[in-house]
Amino acid sequence: MAETERGRRILSTDRLELREMTRQDLPALRSILQDPATMTHYEGAFSEDMVESWLTRMLQRYRDDGYALWAVELKDIGEMIGQCGITRQPQAETTVDEVGYLFHRDHWHHGYATEAARACRDFAFNQLGVETVWAHVRDTNLASMNVAIRLGMTVRTRFVKHYRGVEMPHLGFAVDREHD
Ligand SMILES: CC(C)(COP(=O)(O)OP(=O)(O)OC[C@H]1O[C@@H](n2cnc3c(N)ncnc32)[C@H](O)[C@@H]1OP(=O)(O)O)[C@@H](O)C(=O)NCCC(=O)NCCS
Repeated sequence: MAETERGRRILSTDRLELREMTRQDLPALRSILQDPATMTHYEGAFSEDMVESWLTRMLQRYRDDGYALWAVELKDIGEMIGQCGITRQPQAETTVDEVGYLFHRDHWHHGYATEAARACRDFAFNQLGVETVWAHVRDTNLASMNVAIRLGMTVRTRFVKHYRGVEMPHLGFAVDREHD
């Protein structure tokens, strides 16, 4: 039962464990999505309703696509410190696979986002058979651009997202699967 409550295990890295989120993760999710500094590039902290629908959307994506953002736990303390994973995202006239990462502010600057995102990039290539992994980054979000660069990504395109009533210029970073 404990395994079910914690959500299905997906992958692990040296320091991190990635697993599906469950409703038990709402407090940890709130501490990330309701922190104004963390959510600067999403136009501010989420309301309770927005946190609920964020989680509901992820649980639906697990069912529909088999993947979405997962909970990232620090193995040392066994606590959720962030979210990272792969989601299907619209881009121009098509849909692409995007790596996403949002971490609790207490756990920035330790390399955890890059460690988790690298593992998700490789999961997309090796388990999902994806040819190109994208990262959609708002043009103000330098920390996120640096994660994309650490994943070996380059800028491929620019586009504008309309979110929370705001026009947000974005850069489309991507990396292609290597073939033997
Ligand atoms: C984007 C975000 C996840 C980046 O987090 P981050 O901690 O800066 O990213 P990394 O995991 O790559 O960590 C790199 C830092 O850890 C340091 N570091 C320390 N120990 C390290 C280790 N063992 N290995 C690698 N880096 C290490 C690096 O020197 C670097 O430091 P710096 O940021 O001071 O230059 C974080 O800023 C965030 O959650 N932002 C809010 C949500 C968001 O905007 N998400 C992106 C949406 S597109």
